[in-house]
Order: sequence, then structure tokens, then C-alpha cells
Amino acid sequence: MLSHAMARSYILGIESSCDESAAAIVGLDGEVRSSVIYSQLAEHVAYGGVVPEVAARAHLEQLPHVIRQALSESGVGPQELAAIAVTQGPGLGGALLCGLHMAQALAFAWRLPVIGVDHLHAHLLSPWLKTSTHQPQGLAYPYLALLVSGGHSAFYRLAGHGDVTLLGQTRDDAVGEAFDKAAKTLGLPYPGGPALAAFARQDSTCAFRFSPVRLKSGGFDLSFSGLKTALIHALPGIGQHETGRRHLAWAFQEAIVRTLSDKVQEIISASSADMRPQQLVVVGGVAANTRLRAVLSERCADLGVALTIPPKDLCTDNAAMVAYAGATAYQAAGTAEGLVFTAPTTATVLDAYTRDAQRRRGPTG
Ligand code: KG4
Ligand code: ZN
Repeated sequence: MLSHAMARSYILGIESSCDESAAAIVGLDGEVRSSVIYSQLAEHVAYGGVVPEVAARAHLEQLPHVIRQALSESGVGPQELAAIAVTQGPGLGGALLCGLHMAQALAFAWRLPVIGVDHLHAHLLSPWLKTSTHQPQGLAYPYLALLVSGGHSAFYRLAGHGDVTLLGQTRDDAVGEAFDKAAKTLGLPYPGGPALAAFARQDSTCAFRFSPVRLKSGGFDLSFSGLKTALIHALPGIGQHETGRRHLAWAFQEAIVRTLSDKVQEIISASSADMRPQQLVVVGGVAANTRLRAVLSERCADLGVALTIPPKDLCTDNAAMVAYAGATAYQAAGTAEGLVFTAPTTATVLDAYTRDAQRRRGPTG
């Protein structure tokens, strides 16, 4: 028997924008009660990248299990849920629809609102989550956020949970994508980022050096496709010489890390005194890169800026961040009964997906 006194203070989050099928139960205060992630890596590895159709089918199969597990691990019942939050984009069209339709079906059965969440916004809020290993201690607005994943690379200024300004973004490859492509060129396995980082080696005989990328115009925008070309041009001179290839991988990683840390410095130096961020938050899969962490931590210490990098399971794709972004939207709207959210639909998700795909292809198609 449902008790009317039972507070509806949790959000079920569902994430299916790429190759992780994930569900989580998070309190409105950001406390993570459960976060279940099914990685589809094994399904895609043979193709050397994510295959959209394979991803959608795997989401269809896995999401029901993942959602059930998230509920049972959390000890939270459907009657304690305030809403269901689901990633509405950016991401793969078919993959997104699997999550959306799952959210809609459950919301219909449990009479709950569906909150559509922007995947990038969710990444940016991930440092606010509370888990047994991570607390948002000392975190305060405004902060500078660097999102570095396989699909996106951008700098944002956050002045509040919903107050996000894009400062600059990549004009071509995302950082993770650049790592993945470079790794493929070097004959390393997918996903290339961690493989390249493990392969890279530096010593006094290292003969390569790529300059950090600096665009002539474009404010705080980034670009990584030129580095990939530089690597391709350098490779024939080394052939199969293993030490040379390891040095080349190091030089590539170093150029990316310097490009990002130089940009951090540029953004912070350009901020007016009252807008100067006190913290840098780094999120996305590439935040796992040890060299990037080391160089950013030195650079931030020089700048007098605190560095926050949430643990890996919060940095990479997960549903806890989606639930929390949903929680902030829910609270901003108020918790009165009968609230109407602008619920995502098949049409809005597909429309956004098409526009994103066109933007990625560029004006010439
Ligand atoms: O955020 P994420 O898990 O998925 C999305 O793209 O949304 O990021 C995955 C990306 C991949 O491109 C992967 O190669 C890269 O992050 N990555 C790394 C490292 N670990 C993961 N890149 C460089 N060094 C790493 N240690
Ligand atoms: Zn992501």
C-alpha cells in the first residue's frame, strides 16, 4: 500500500546516447543511490569504432536489465520517484530513441513526468554528484569546465546549475576522437585513447615535437585534425621501429595536452577580475589521461586555480549525471503536483539529431 507521506525525492536517469546503456537512481540533492553502466565495447571492438545500428540494438536488449538493476541496487521504489530523466541529445539517433521510449513507457506506467536532458549539460554537472568516493567539497560557481570526450571538446563557463556559457569548442575532431584516430594509425587497439597513452614513452632520445595548436582567429576554439595529419606524415620516416613509434605517440599526446593547458591559461588570463574562475573542472573520458591530469594540475597551481576532476565512473558516460541534471531541472520548475515539463518526443529528438549530424558534416556535406 502506497503511503501518501512517502516523499518523491529521487530521479531515475537513463543514458543511451552512444555505446553505454546506463541507468541510475539519484536523490534530488545529488546523492547517487545506484549507477549501473553496461559498456557495449565488446559489441563494437571488432569494427574499430561504434556502429550506430549495433548500439541501438544493444540498448534495446540491455536497458531493461540495467534499469531493473539500478532500481534494485538503490532500494528505491517507483513510488519514491519524482520524475524520469533521459538523455535527449546530442548522440546517435537510434540509440537516443531507445532510451527515450523506455523512459516514456515507464513514465506512462508510473504516472511520472519525463525530463529531457542535454548530454553535455549532464557531463558539466557531474562534479556535483555525491558518492562514497566523491563529494563536491569546495566546489563553487563560477567555474571553468573543460569537457573532453570521444564526441565533444569544449570550454564552458558555469555560473549556476542552469547558467552555462560556451566559451570555445573544437572545429573538427574531438580530443578523444583525435586520440582514437592517432591510435588506429599507429596500429593500436580501440578505444585508442587509453591504448595510445599506455604506449607513449618519453626519454632523452625522443626526436619528435609537435607544436600546440593555436588558431589564428576564433577566440577560445580548438582544432585537432592538423595534429593527426602531422602524425600521419611523421610515421613513414619511422616505419616499424618501436621506440620511434612510442616517441611519436608521446609527442602527439604532449601536443594535445599543451594545447588544452595553454587554452586554460588563455581563458583565465582573459577573464575580468570579477568573472575570474576560481576552479577548473575537467569531465569526459579523456579526463582519465594521466599526462593531461599532471600538466593541468601544474598549470592550475601556477594560476592559483583549484582543479577538480571527478572519478572516472562520473567522468565517462553514465546515467547518474543525467538523473542529476534532471533533478536540477525538476527543482528549478518546482515540485508541485501537475507540473508540466517540456517533455522530449521522438520528433524533437530526431530533429535535434539531424541538425547535429548536419553541423558535424559541415556546410559542404
Ligand atoms: O566520455 P567518454 O567515455 O565517451 C564519450 O565520448 O562520450 O569518452 C571516450 C573517449 C574515447 O575517445 C577514448 O579514447 C578517450 O575518451 N579516452 C582517453 C583515455 N581514456 C579514454 N583518451 C586519452 N587518454 C586516456 N587515458
Ligand atoms: Zn559523453
